[in-house]
Amino acid sequence: MKTINLKINGRKRQIEIEENERLLDIIREGFHLTGTKEGCGEGECGACSVLLNGKLVNACMIMAFQAEDSEVITIEGLGENEKLDPIQQAFIDTGAVQCGFCTPGMVLSAKALLMKNPTPTKQEIRRGISGNLCRCTGYEKIVEAVELAAKRIAETD
Ligand code: FES
Ligand code: FES
Repeated sequence: MKTINLKINGRKRQIEIEENERLLDIIREGFHLTGTKEGCGEGECGACSVLLNGKLVNACMIMAFQAEDSEVITIEGLGENEKLDPIQQAFIDTGAVQCGFCTPGMVLSAKALLMKNPTPTKQEIRRGISGNLCRCTGYEKIVEAVELAAKRIAETD
């Protein structure tokens, strides 16, 4: 057992971790932030995507101790019930919310993309979400959602 400090969704927290726990385990089981999903557990599907110090990572591939003194943003940290993040809102407005399993990771990938590149082309959006797999439907609505979010963010800036 070891105690680590980190900031998660803007709040300073302390948690006891086991040596073999992953960031994904402490997010879901330690902090009960179950919007972050476990799909493959092998870094392939993007269902566990979170932002670690502003960078998109697969939380199943990061050990909990590596998150010491870092800042983690999960899907729960993006918006609030009364005011969703523009990306979340755009996903709803374009009908891009598919299943609860892939959507949180898709939204966080979109967030990471728009933080780096506020005006992405369709191709850049496709590349940006290429680490997030959906095995059931198309990606067209998701691309539309990210375009709409980018447009809305640009208009309010
Ligand atoms: S669960 Fe982490 S990438 Fe699939
Ligand atoms: S995996 Fe979520 S809609 Fe296909």
